[in-house]
Parts: sequence; structure tokens; C-alpha cells
Amino acid sequence: MPDAAIDAATAQIGRVQSGEVPSPVVCTFFDEATNTASHVVHCPITKRAAILDSVLDYDAAAGRTSNGSAQAIVDYVRREGLSVDWQLETHAHADHLSAAPWLQEQLGGKLGIGANIVRVQNVFGKIFNAGTRFARDGSQFDHLFQDGETFSIGDLPVTVLHVPGHTPADMAFVIGNCAFVGDTIFMPDFGTARADFPGGDARQLFQSIRRLLSLPEETRLFLCHDYKAPDREDYAWLTTVALERAHNIHVHDGVSEDDFVAMRTTRDATLAMPKLLMPSVQVNMRGGHMPEPEADGISYIKIPVNRL
Ligand SMILES: [Fe+2]
Repeated sequence: MPDAAIDAATAQIGRVQSGEVPSPVVCTFFDEATNTASHVVHCPITKRAAILDSVLDYDAAAGRTSNGSAQAIVDYVRREGLSVDWQLETHAHADHLSAAPWLQEQLGGKLGIGANIVRVQNVFGKIFNAGTRFARDGSQFDHLFQDGETFSIGDLPVTVLHVPGHTPADMAFVIGNCAFVGDTIFMPDFGTARADFPGGDARQLFQSIRRLLSLPEETRLFLCHDYKAPDREDYAWLTTVALERAHNIHVHDGVSEDDFVAMRTTRDATLAMPKLLMPSVQVNMRGGHMPEPEADGISYIKIPVNRL
């Protein structure tokens, strides 16, 4: 089946390999509390940058946020003399709060997410009974990305791919010859993202992953999460299309869609909800902003009982 977005991304990767455009510089910040990899990617020529999937620290027991993880990103950006054009979210995360609004205050940059965030807002707006003042039109974000959209970060070309399955709104950002794949695929020894959240779909996830794995074999894949794996002591977040196709325990070449769906569905039934699901979704569906303060000026996070 012709796939114009994949063709565009493939041509773009070729332009890096031929030296026509620079290779991106990537620095990753790993948050052990939520197993999240946040990435800062920049153009070595122009020093223009994007920050992907930042983390706001959250003490659930106390209901208190802090900026230690995000401050490390600010320090790096200032030290390197980068100008931030974008705060990118691969999706509305269910396991950590986004630091994008705070980072925008510190460093600037437009906040972007996939256009299907409106579906996520509708689903979770209902689940959390968010009321009519919660807009479900994506207006909390500066830009909503479509599949196949292209833009640039300095001299780095970018192609955006819609990769639903974990959520309906997941996007992968192919920047130069690097793909930031969000919650689709993990390291080869750990497998793939879960597909059982409201709006998730294992069959779609398989198709999205096969699409990503149709990029050139040497494409560097930067992951959103790592949980180590049996026989591995260190966190890891960088792999390649070739390594995933050869070794991914869930989706290596030869695994059929039906076998994947059966595996994924069985495995998802055994997984607990992420510890920070309730606060994460309520904040991230609002573009990382807290729910509107109540009459006393305080924001409250809700817990719907016996709902999820
Ligand atoms: Fe996620």
C-alpha cells in the first residue's frame, strides 16, 4: 500500500545520510520515578531545538509538584546555548505529568501534540466528568499535528507520523535520521507498549509499529520509556529499525498481526494501572495544565471510584 508519509520520512533520512542536511544532536534525560525518557534534539548548525515528552515531578501522596527533572533540561539548554522552537508530546501520557507549560515559561517553544488529542479529551473528559468548561477541541495546545505533516527545526527536516494503538493520538516525530517513537515499541528485549487504555487498540498498534519498522534499517529509534529487562542492568532508550526487526520479542519480522494481538491482549490483562494514571491524564489532557482552580483558588485532581 502506498504510504506518502513514510516515503517522505525515508527521503528525509536519505538527505541526512548524503550529508545534504545535518545529523541531529540528541540528549536524553531519564526519569527513574516514571521510567520516562525525555529528549532534547537540536540542529548543530542553527542551535534550534525541540524538547520531547518532558516530566513534571509529582509526589502523589502529598499532591505536590516539583521541577527538578525539568530544571535539568533547562540547565542543559542554557549551557548549550539552544533556542527552543517546540515542546512536543508524542501523546497524552498516563504515567507522568508533562512539564511542557513550565518549560514554555522558562524556554519558550510551541506546544504540539497529535490532532486526535480531541478524541482523548472526549474519552477522559467523560471519565473524569470534567464539565463544560473543559474544552475538548485541542485548544490547550499551540499546534495539532496530522499524519505526514512536515516542518523543520533549524536545518533539520521533520516528518510527523500518526502511530495510534497505545492511544488514538500517538505521533512519532522523524527528525533528521532519528525517529522519536513515543509509546509504540520499546527496547527489543522488552517489546511493545500496552494497548488497553480507553481508546487503545492492539491491532492498530501492530500496524503503527510495522509502519515505523518500514523506515530505513539504520534509522535511530528514540524510545519514550524503558523498564530494563531480564538480564539487563541499565536503562536504555536508543535502538534501530534493524535491531527491532531482528530481535524485538513482540514484533520481530515474521510475527503475524493476529499473534501480536493475542499476545498483547493477554499480557495487558495482567498489567496494573500506572501509579500516576489519575493525575497524569487529568493534567495532560489539558496540555499539562492543572484543572481549573476551585473557589478557594486551589486545583484539585479527581479520582473516579470504580470507573477504570
Ligand atoms: Fe504512554
